Amino acid sequence: MTRAAIVLAAGKGTRFRSEQAKVLHPVAGRTMLRWVLESLRPLELERVVVVVGHQADAVRAEAEAADLPGLTTVVQDEQRGTGHAARVAVEQGGLEAAETVLVLPGDVPLLESEPLERLLASAAESAATILSFELADPTGYGRIVRDSSGAVSRIVEHRDASEAERAITEVNSSIYAFDRAALTDELGRLSSLNEQGEEYLTDVVAPLAEREAGVDAVSAAADTVAGVNDRAQLAEAGVALRARILEGLMAAGATVVDPATTYVEADVVVGTDAVVMPGTHLEGATRIGSRACVGPDSRLVDAEVGDDATIAYSVVLGARIGPGADVGPFTYLRGGTDLGPATKAGAFVEMKNASVGEGSKVPHLSYIGDAEIGRGANVGAATVTANYDGFAKHRTVIGDGARIGSDTMLVAPVRVGIDAYTGAGSVITTDVPDGALGVERNEQRTIEGYSEHKRAKHERGG
Ligand code: UD1
Ligand code: CA
Repeated sequence: MTRAAIVLAAGKGTRFRSEQAKVLHPVAGRTMLRWVLESLRPLELERVVVVVGHQADAVRAEAEAADLPGLTTVVQDEQRGTGHAARVAVEQGGLEAAETVLVLPGDVPLLESEPLERLLASAAESAATILSFELADPTGYGRIVRDSSGAVSRIVEHRDASEAERAITEVNSSIYAFDRAALTDELGRLSSLNEQGEEYLTDVVAPLAEREAGVDAVSAAADTVAGVNDRAQLAEAGVALRARILEGLMAAGATVVDPATTYVEADVVVGTDAVVMPGTHLEGATRIGSRACVGPDSRLVDAEVGDDATIAYSVVLGARIGPGADVGPFTYLRGGTDLGPATKAGAFVEMKNASVGEGSKVPHLSYIGDAEIGRGANVGAATVTANYDGFAKHRTVIGDGARIGSDTMLVAPVRVGIDAYTGAGSVITTDVPDGALGVERNEQRTIEGYSEHKRAKHERGG
């Protein structure tokens, strides 16, 4: 049996009031469209046709980025309804070989593979199977209308429903499995004689129910199939998706101290026995090693954190932190930073495009940019690499075992050699050779009895 899917993603999503197509809005680290495509991945369908229209190029690019086998896109130039969108897909999507086709919207980020598996299993016995769910307040949804024997007879849209039909609480998720040939037939006969003047996909249900094979509904929990139509629902979906992500991390052996204040995106990996403290945000392709401790109150984006490292009250963007490294509190590590094993980037330290060799320490109040620090070096408090001359960035190199005195200004390009020293408060503008001391400051002048002299002068009124 050849199985395929049609993903309806051409609509604008008017209720989002957004410049951007609704399905491109991210939630918990993925766009809504990407979540939907990921729910299809385990089904190993032969073909997946994504219907694009509003912001077609951007939506197509996002669909293709999922790299799902058999994925193709078709363009629905004018958004004339869900039925019209499905018709464009069956006419242009290369679905002739498919026996069964799933149809689903692009705005159901909570969807998982499990209800889709059930739909596909039921599809063999009916012309259509609808994934339905129960809602205490079904306002806005299409209602599943059943006949006196309990069989599905049609779907009526909220706008077109009678008082009695509006009382029905079993609603259409807009996720279905169809016999492809029967669907193609009925899509060809759709009219747009309804409240919205659109071709409703839901209108194929009544004629399919007349057929021998009939129409079935299988039910799912509302929080797995509910669509996202506005930003309040997007936020709710985010809460549910993050809870799921955290459950996954905990099941795999990570400790999450306070799930309610922990924000982890879909593609983040956290190692065994790692501890994620409250107020922590792990985003993008972040990977946390085993036994590492992250947080509290930290944000890591595309960061790689080694085993046993600790990071507290810090922001890490596109940086690597080696095993056993110690970061924070109040540290800002930016792109291209690579902290080696057992290193330290301490309080109020900012680094950018800097590599720090094993065991080296930058404990306090420093800016290290475009720099290479060897192994076992110590960079004193308030050291600054002056990397920018107003036109270009320049590199600073600090050799293995070097000792940079507190408040050193390293004016790049400059190199401090292996085992070399700089004197506290120096402005280093020329290279310091291996083993040497570079010091740049005036002799101290000491004036004895100064405070007494000062007071006497004040009392004289001078
Ligand atoms: C639809 C169903 C409704 C169901 C509800 C569940 C219809 C007529 N109604 O209503 O029964 O309860 O979903 O959320 O199908 N789209 C296109 N092209 C179009 C129109 C829509 O691709 O011309 C896409 C949208 O991008 C969206 C999906 O189809 O991803 C659903 O469209 P939407 O307008 O959200 O349908 P609802 O009014 O929610
Ligand atoms: Ca919808």
